[in-house]
Amino acid sequence: NIGIAMIGSGSATPSVSLDNHGLSQIVDTSDEWIASRTGIRDRRVADPHTTSLCSLAAAASKQAIAMAQVDPSEIDLIILATSTPDDLFGTASLIQAQLGATQAVAFDLTAACSGFIFGLVTAAQFIRTGAYKTVLLIGGDILSRWVDWSDRRTCVLFGDGAGAVVLQASESDRLLGFELRSDGTQNGCLNLAFQAQPHTLIEGVTVSQGTYQPITMNGQEVYRFAVRKVPEVIEKALFRADLTVDRVNWLILHQANQRIMDAVAQRLNIPSDRVISNLANYGNTSAASIPIALDEAVRSGKIQPGDVIAASGFGAGLTWGAAIFQW
Ligand code: ACO
Repeated sequence: NIGIAMIGSGSATPSVSLDNHGLSQIVDTSDEWIASRTGIRDRRVADPHTTSLCSLAAAASKQAIAMAQVDPSEIDLIILATSTPDDLFGTASLIQAQLGATQAVAFDLTAACSGFIFGLVTAAQFIRTGAYKTVLLIGGDILSRWVDWSDRRTCVLFGDGAGAVVLQASESDRLLGFELRSDGTQNGCLNLAFQAQPHTLIEGVTVSQGTYQPITMNGQEVYRFAVRKVPEVIEKALFRADLTVDRVNWLILHQANQRIMDAVAQRLNIPSDRVISNLANYGNTSAASIPIALDEAVRSGKIQPGDVIAASGFGAGLTWGAAIFQW
């Protein structure tokens, strides 16, 4: 049986900060409201003159590749989990070119804020079957492109960034269990939908032109969904891993809202000092939030080799999932 090991991590965020005080100059809000309802105090935003999804993802990837001590030419597969590609035809290939990962096949995967977990499980299938040995998985998003900056209910929540990990075939298996879920009937809770503008070419032939409408969200529905479904999916993944919750050293949830993280940890009976949170600094970075939190915790020495991590992503789709792995 071929196992899976995570052998490197990296992360990158734009240099430009936009804190809650800055936001209160744009919309009718306050640091007090945002911090008390969400835990967010600051976020990074990508300056379009200097920062693309590709540049953030490549910077995070280079760190992960250096930690993993692999050569870019050894990478067989690159998966970019994103909802905000630089190019809708695919951005992973652009990253492949920037890294000089000449042997890697590259594609994008979209599962919103669950993208990193869905990508991890996808990468694992290629490794388990023996098809590929070394995989670079990136979660990256520039949601500032698609936020309605006049809507205080959403614009205070999001930030930009990218995180990456290198996965490799290994004798000892460190991906211990997972569970993925989707529910399209609840899709309307959270959208970044294409808004078609019908354009008639000739009589009887109409095509749609247009663009994406900014993010719309029913915050309370999303909150209820997360608090109900995330503990459930983590418990299922733990069951598949044949582990109980007391074996979890670190809980890394998608960083959407501190109150969601606290409620999930409480339901699972995981003490707050085992919950990793960097939400205050970056806001909700969508597919990037789990790998950025993971990378920071690894680099600060919080996460040690052998530690058991329960990670869970949840968001638009709706999609949600959990993976239990050992660092
Ligand atoms: N500043 C000040 N007032 C605000 C703001 C703001 N930024 N946003 C909303 N308000 C107001 C509302 O207008 C409303 O006022 P009203 O009663 O006069 O109409 C009042 O505050 C309460 O609004 P609610 O929407 O009920 O606020 P709630 O307590 O539900 O908090 C929040 C909103 C923080 C969005 C919460 O619902 C939440 O965190 N939900 C989860 C959202 C989430 O995590 N989404 C992302 C997950 S998926 C993904 O990552 C893509």
